[in-house]
Amino acid sequence: MADTETVSFPQDRTCPYHPPTEYRPQNDGQPPLSPVSPARLFDGRRVWLVTGHAEARALLVDRRLSSARENPEFPVIAERLALSARRRVGLIGTDDPEHNAQRRMLIPSFSVKRIAALRPRIQQTVDRLLDTMIEQGPPTDLVSAFALPVPSMVICALLGVPYADHDFFESQSRKLLRGPRAADVEEARNALDEYFRVLIERKRSDPGEGLLDELIAQQLESGAVDRDELVQLSEILLIAGHETTANMISLGTFALLQHPDQLDRLRGSEELMPTAVEELLRYLSIVDSLARLATEDIEVGGVTIRAGEGVVLSTSVINRDEAAYPTPDELDLGRRSRHHVAFGFGIHQCLGQNLARAEMEIALRTLFDRLPGLRLAAPAEEIPFKPGDTLQGMLELPVAW
Ligand code: HEM
Repeated sequence: MADTETVSFPQDRTCPYHPPTEYRPQNDGQPPLSPVSPARLFDGRRVWLVTGHAEARALLVDRRLSSARENPEFPVIAERLALSARRRVGLIGTDDPEHNAQRRMLIPSFSVKRIAALRPRIQQTVDRLLDTMIEQGPPTDLVSAFALPVPSMVICALLGVPYADHDFFESQSRKLLRGPRAADVEEARNALDEYFRVLIERKRSDPGEGLLDELIAQQLESGAVDRDELVQLSEILLIAGHETTANMISLGTFALLQHPDQLDRLRGSEELMPTAVEELLRYLSIVDSLARLATEDIEVGGVTIRAGEGVVLSTSVINRDEAAYPTPDELDLGRRSRHHVAFGFGIHQCLGQNLARAEMEIALRTLFDRLPGLRLAAPAEEIPFKPGDTLQGMLELPVAW
């Protein structure tokens, strides 16, 4: 790998919805980074940082890049992840053919048709949470009152996980995603493993309704998956199913309140919502980094990625590539922003994307319909947001109306 001056990865954002400035030096009058350029991780390891849209789309469908985290060469992007880095992660941390077998079991539950049938339930959840918020009156923290419980309640209903346990699994997810110490992340993984082991055993003797119950009846009892694999799948579905959309709802609300012209456009047109959600996904790119390991040499963007080298793809910079999106730093809710990589691309492209879109559409439309006077209840620059080595979003969002 070339030994030129490298950026360190990951960096914190300086604005909650813009990519870190160090990945985009041309904005400071510096020469732009190449679409595939060297970067340095916390442990000094050199990896390739992908920031070009065309290069990212080519790499994300390239089978010579592996997602298997248990490989000792797989890049670890933060010190706090070091202890648990080699643990197996269902679906997202597997390669084909194992990945394909797991994904095929789950796809029917996330189809357009199944998610369309869930819409009334999502609407009901959103309505009830807003009823409570309105009853209690302003100011409120939109993250804890609305943005987090909406996807959390919906994924619990879909999976058959008791929502009564939400304090437990939400706090463990927080620890897993943001715990400052490596031990926090490890403890959270252990606690969630144990939680699902117990839940699965309970469901075996006392089945309920939900995807987990279906998987137990159809896949576990037949021996198609074993209990540990089902535990891993349950964890990824529960965590990916609530933390991600929660960040999109809170950060999406924040970004819209900071762009009142765009919010007015959205209010004036019901039909704009699906396009607007796509543009918000592109603009906010909350899953900022996707990591991979090269298993063979790959020529891309004028460089050779060697077998054994790590690759990190910064979706936020990729989704602001001028070659793919003119005036990329403008939030333009009418823009055709398809082909963004906010849901990834290739075999790991987000399994829950139909669900996430439905939740975002319903939550944002109903929030701004019912609270036309919604505004920030603190100066924007004082509202805390998340560090760069995890899902991006607001830590809290004080609002009034
Ligand atoms: C707006 C919200 C969401 C965003 C931005 C998002 C983003 C992503 C991204 C970028 C990936 C690809 C990771 C990679 O290539 O390494 C992914 C995969 C995944 N997402 Fe989402 N996601 C969201 C919501 C959801 C929801 C609601 C679920 C529901 C269960 C979900 C479940 C998954 C799963 C299971 C995978 C792994 C798929 C695979 O490896 O085949 N996500 N998501």
